[in-house]
Amino acid sequence: MRILLIGSGGREHAIAWKLRQSSRLSELFIAPGNAGTSQCGTNVSLDSSDHAAVARFCESEHIDMVVVGPEVPLVEGLCDSLSAKLPSLKLVGPGAAGAQLEGSKAFSKALMAEFGIPTAAYEAFTNDPGAAKQFLRKLKPPYVLKADGLAAGKGVVITATLAEADAELDEMFGGKFGASSATVVIEEFLDGREFSVFVITDGTDYQLLPVARDYKRVGEGDTGPNTGGMGAISPVDYVDKYMMEKVRERIIEPTLHGLRERKIPYTGIIFLGLISVENEPFVIEYNCRLGDPETEVVLPRMRGDLIDLFDSLFDGTLSQNEIQVDSRAAATVVMASGGYPGEYQKGQVISGLGEHGDSLCFLAGVKEEAGQLVTDGGRVLAMTSYGLTGAEAAEESRRALAAISFENGFYRMDIGK
Ligand code: AMP
Ligand code: GLY
Repeated sequence: MRILLIGSGGREHAIAWKLRQSSRLSELFIAPGNAGTSQCGTNVSLDSSDHAAVARFCESEHIDMVVVGPEVPLVEGLCDSLSAKLPSLKLVGPGAAGAQLEGSKAFSKALMAEFGIPTAAYEAFTNDPGAAKQFLRKLKPPYVLKADGLAAGKGVVITATLAEADAELDEMFGGKFGASSATVVIEEFLDGREFSVFVITDGTDYQLLPVARDYKRVGEGDTGPNTGGMGAISPVDYVDKYMMEKVRERIIEPTLHGLRERKIPYTGIIFLGLISVENEPFVIEYNCRLGDPETEVVLPRMRGDLIDLFDSLFDGTLSQNEIQVDSRAAATVVMASGGYPGEYQKGQVISGLGEHGDSLCFLAGVKEEAGQLVTDGGRVLAMTSYGLTGAEAAEESRRALAAISFENGFYRMDIGK
């Protein structure tokens, strides 16, 4: 199988690492990739927003399967363009219609309302601060405001007071997130414990990858601003099989039913951002892809062949391909550039890479420059370890990270605790 993987984060290094273990892999290209993915295949400098160029590459390299890591190319309809030009290509990732699950909060909230999927009560407003502020006054604090469109994980703002919420609304309608916040979803605040469920589906059948939880805030004890994710663990001790039965019956099955009712085909991953409120699951958000850094714990716990799993999306055999899971726990701890998620410097030389024992070091913002590995992003790398528990695994990751250094690099000390 000749595969093209789109993306350049720690998630894509983990996907490339897992694909590389398959005896069915003959060639792996990663566009654009990073210094980690180049250990698993060939990085190519293709711009995923240039759909014609990606199609030409697939044609000339006889690509059989394209796996899309991040949400932006999915929301932009890369898979629609590719399937129109190359109908026999196997595309792991939905078209633009399905990617609206992540690309439009108004779309996903309306789908949940129509099909009775539990989520926070809400209303959506388009360029209408007056009506939006009126609605806010019917809610209790804290207030949850969400830009409708993609905002690189920054589009959700939670405020403690009405005055702050009003001011935030003015900023959002004033273009804080560009066109993404022309429509704002305002919703009820849910108080509970979050977890992430990864559904792989061909639109009819589905299988579940291991459940994970990520640590979104930058600071110790879940403080400070939201990030893409500072670490993750799997499994999650407050998610048991009874919870997962509720998730299947109340969330996954109605979501797939809703997509089919709307005639939206879906081949790929649905990532459910869930919250358990008094032991009942609610949807916080949908994503149309795997999570980062959750993938760095989920794929190391998945047994079996990832190409077999992806391939079963296309021949009707997904239902026979139940995913086997390693009984060990896994944790990943992200090492980030000082300043992240705000401004940070790039180009810092990284030392100590390659001395991580049994841990798996997935590179994210790392590139090679004049024979050295240097930082190239906010989240620089994710160190994954196994253990009896998530806490033990995270401790092992911190031990491995202690050998790695670059100027102003930092990681959270409380992941898994
Ligand atoms: P999202 O980008 O939709 O994942 O939201 C970012 C974070 O905001 C989530 O991980 C939650 O911690 C929080 N959040 C979003 N919506 C709600 C809600 N309705 N109630 C409480 N917290 C929320
Ligand atoms: N770690 C959360 C995400 O990938 O959206």
